[in-house]
Amino acid sequence: MSHSDLSQNPIGIFDSGIGGLTVANAIHKQLPNENFIYFGDTAHLPYGDKSADAIRYYSIKISKFLLDQGCKMIVIACNSASSASYEILLDFFKDKALFVNVVDPLVDHVISNKYNKVGVIATKATTNSNVYKSKIESKDQSIAVAQLATPLLVPMIEEGFHHDDISHSIIGKYLSDPTLKNIQALLLACTHYPLIKNQIEAYFDHKIDVLDSTDVVLLKIKELLDKHQLYNKGEVKDPVFYVSDYTKSFEETTNVFYTQKVSLIEKSIW
Ligand code: DGL
Repeated sequence: MSHSDLSQNPIGIFDSGIGGLTVANAIHKQLPNENFIYFGDTAHLPYGDKSADAIRYYSIKISKFLLDQGCKMIVIACNSASSASYEILLDFFKDKALFVNVVDPLVDHVISNKYNKVGVIATKATTNSNVYKSKIESKDQSIAVAQLATPLLVPMIEEGFHHDDISHSIIGKYLSDPTLKNIQALLLACTHYPLIKNQIEAYFDHKIDVLDSTDVVLLKIKELLDKHQLYNKGEVKDPVFYVSDYTKSFEETTNVFYTQKVSLIEKSIW
């Protein structure tokens, strides 16, 4: 299917909240000619503690909203939503836009690196879905995948506790879990964790690969825009940032994840 008539249309990016701004920030920097619309479902966060069915319901509604805005591509920036909803979003909407999730590019990266054992840290929704384990093991059975839910890391990062005693002890407590013994790589499978990547690398004395999905997701987005001739060659507009529930505190916290000042606009889509 040719999408070339849609090239000037925006990329839609969605997340449970504002953590997905890490992905939006990378798109903004690496694809400065693209228009994008962000949607953070702050009314329903955290997705990490929700059932797969609830996350699917939210993801369908949000995707429909982004498609109504004419999005040519939808990036599911949230790991919990990528785990629960990617397949159902393809079933519903694959003829309307391109979809990118944050799981598959990282899975492919792991496969190409031929590790013996990798660890995955993520929300409960992501670890319960077993998505990384099943996708990696279905492509290469020789790679063992150890999953660990690390739910305290999200509020810790949002509250600004990085690089201090609190983050040091929480990270140490989680990463010393025996399930992660002998891993050669650790996958940071959550929007928020790139912000503590340095601390995690330091915890492992830089002896293992600590991987987040940002760069590989960007490569995937570029590959698809190229393949479908969807690069924007027209006007570049300011990005728009929608949330389903506005608070000043959400707006202030955006500066943890996005390098420029963000103004959030409340949008009720339910
Ligand atoms: N965005 C979520 C993820 O990447 C983390 C925050 C949440 O649980 O809503 O899984």
